[in-house]
Amino acid sequence: MKILILGSGGREHAIGLKLSQSPRKPVLIFAPGNPGMAELGTCHPVAADDIPAVLTLAKKEAVDLTVVGPEVPLVKGIVDAFQAEGLRIFGPTAGAARLEGSKAFSKDFMTRYGIPTAAFQTFRELNPALTYLEKTGAPVVVKASGLAAGKGAVVCQTLTEAREAVESMLGPNAIFGEAGSEVVIEEFMDGEEASVFAVCDGKNFTLLPTAQDHKRIFDNDMGPNTGGMGAYSPAPIMTPALLERTCKEVIRPTLDGMQKEGHPYQGVLYVGLMLTSKGPKVVEFNCRLGDPETQAVLPVYAGDLLELVLAAAEGKISDTVEFPKANRSAAIIVLASKGYPGSYPSGLPIQGLLEANTVPGVHVVHAGTKSKDGAAVTAGGRVLGVVGQADSLSEALKAAYQGVDCVRFEGMQYRKDIGQRGLKALG
Ligand code: AMP
Ligand code: GLY
Repeated sequence: MKILILGSGGREHAIGLKLSQSPRKPVLIFAPGNPGMAELGTCHPVAADDIPAVLTLAKKEAVDLTVVGPEVPLVKGIVDAFQAEGLRIFGPTAGAARLEGSKAFSKDFMTRYGIPTAAFQTFRELNPALTYLEKTGAPVVVKASGLAAGKGAVVCQTLTEAREAVESMLGPNAIFGEAGSEVVIEEFMDGEEASVFAVCDGKNFTLLPTAQDHKRIFDNDMGPNTGGMGAYSPAPIMTPALLERTCKEVIRPTLDGMQKEGHPYQGVLYVGLMLTSKGPKVVEFNCRLGDPETQAVLPVYAGDLLELVLAAAEGKISDTVEFPKANRSAAIIVLASKGYPGSYPSGLPIQGLLEANTVPGVHVVHAGTKSKDGAAVTAGGRVLGVVGQADSLSEALKAAYQGVDCVRFEGMQYRKDIGQRGLKALG
């Protein structure tokens, strides 16, 4: 079986690693891939969101299954294009991917089906939005409705910040362009966050292990938001009781609602939750796996990912909600370039990759790297992820940080407190 994986980050490297472990021994190809993925199969220089070029590649290579990593091609309709040609692909159609691609759609959808989420209103014009802020007061959250590469949500502690955020999106500067032409203003929710991943076939779903991300750049959740600086799985705070509640109150009504509206949801439904004092509430839906959560979730998942993905793509998942056993843990520490999430240098040599990979229970995932004269150099904000696996979270973290100690590149920055909340939850 030949599988095409779309994307070029740590998440897609982790998907490739997991699929390569399937007893079916698939042949893997990547578009565009990175030096980590090049160790698993052939990389083709085709952008993941260039739908016609990806279609041509899939046909030329006689691919049996395409797995989409990032959200942009999904929101642009890559699944619709493949299905129109009778090609098998894992991921939601554009209609279903609106759960991530339009926060306004997603919030209205949750209201229609009574799915717990923060109270909100959406706006296309500046003045009504500013008037609404006078009513909500602060703290309050201002979000661009469209895709903004994880930068579109602003948690505002004061009304001044909230006014500035609204003006930056709906005013003349329109910093997110079309993606910010509609703005969601929502209630601030207090609590701890957790990520839940459901692999869905349109009607039914199976859960992957849970995770917790670390979005801020600095230790103790300080500094600006990033794509994610580390994660661990499973998240002990997501108890079986909370997961069961999430399935009943969020995932089941979402699948039923999407089906009813003519957009059955096939692919990964990523539920970003806030665990509030009133129970779990949805912060956001994403239409794909998380990055860097995937790098910790997939090593913990005990099943065959390929079988699961095939079952989902063919509508053959019977509701097998497995509550992940907590007898194995994984943690990923992201190694980022100096300056990230702002501007950063690239092309810097990386040392110690082989050494890190020899630490027991450790493997390194490539995110923003490229190959220069046969060696890996930095080529992105998030450069590498060091993954540790062990029987417990504390050992997985210890292994991951031992791996981190082996790797060096100029200006390398990483968080030293990944998993601390998980350890606290374990007591
Ligand atoms: P989003 O892009 O919607 O996932 O938001 C990014 C991050 O902003 C989330 O992971 C939370 O940390 C924070 N956030 C978003 N919405 C809220 C909210 N209503 N209350 C508190 N924090 C939020
Ligand atoms: N780690 C957050 C995301 O993938 O959206």
